Amino acid sequence: MPDLRGRIPAHVGVIMDGNGRWAELRGLPRVEGHRRGAERAREIIDLSIELGVECLTLFAFSTENWQRPREEVSMLMKLLELYLKNEFENLAKKDIRFRAIGEIWRLPENIQALVRETENRTAKNKGLLLVSALSYSGRNEIIRAVRKVMNSGSAPGELKEEDFNSYLDTAGFPQPDLIIRTSGERRLSNFMLWQAAYAELYFTDTLWPDFDREELLLAISDFQGRERRFGKISSGTNAS
Ligand code: FPP
Repeated sequence: MPDLRGRIPAHVGVIMDGNGRWAELRGLPRVEGHRRGAERAREIIDLSIELGVECLTLFAFSTENWQRPREEVSMLMKLLELYLKNEFENLAKKDIRFRAIGEIWRLPENIQALVRETENRTAKNKGLLLVSALSYSGRNEIIRAVRKVMNSGSAPGELKEEDFNSYLDTAGFPQPDLIIRTSGERRLSNFMLWQAAYAELYFTDTLWPDFDREELLLAISDFQGRERRFGKISSGTNAS
């Protein structure tokens, strides 16, 4: 097991990819991969709490995922519904604050209601901030934020980067320090495009349903070995 002595990332974002391939490799329906993926999400949430991660964002459904076959979309929605219904007690017990980002209004009405209820009923919790990106894409979030800025009537020249953060769905959340993507794909695919500016990216070939506690520890250990300069030079480097 890796030895984690360094800094724990305040915000970890996860692109949970490879559920479909995991199932297909085993001759199972894709939904089995999603079901197993949801179980892994539970495990990763628990370990994040144990490690003291402040905020964990799980990319559960992208704007582009609406284009999948209708049956798969409806199975994913069903899974989300079950997850929210079954997990409610656990979220409360574990002091988790739940928030959803994305175009929540595009989700089926019963799920929108569950999402809002879960957000409201966990709003005062003080533990892990668990963010679920649902019907989410980074460009769409930025466009919606730009519209809000335009409607605010503020003078264009006055807009600062910090102000812009407050128009995003992630307003008030820490910026992601570490973004993990599973299943061998090495791109962000529209995830947290604004927020990822200085995030460390970690890619693994492991498919999401196989991403266990050990895999998260490896990702964080890798993160701890990175030098984060935020555009500056190393503290030990002579500038001349
Ligand atoms: C990507 O795998 C995964 C998704 C589109 C859905 C992620 C959803 C879950 C893990 C279940 C719900 C989780 C929560 C926390 C409610 P893919 O289908 O794109 O896999 P593939 O690239 O192998 O086809």
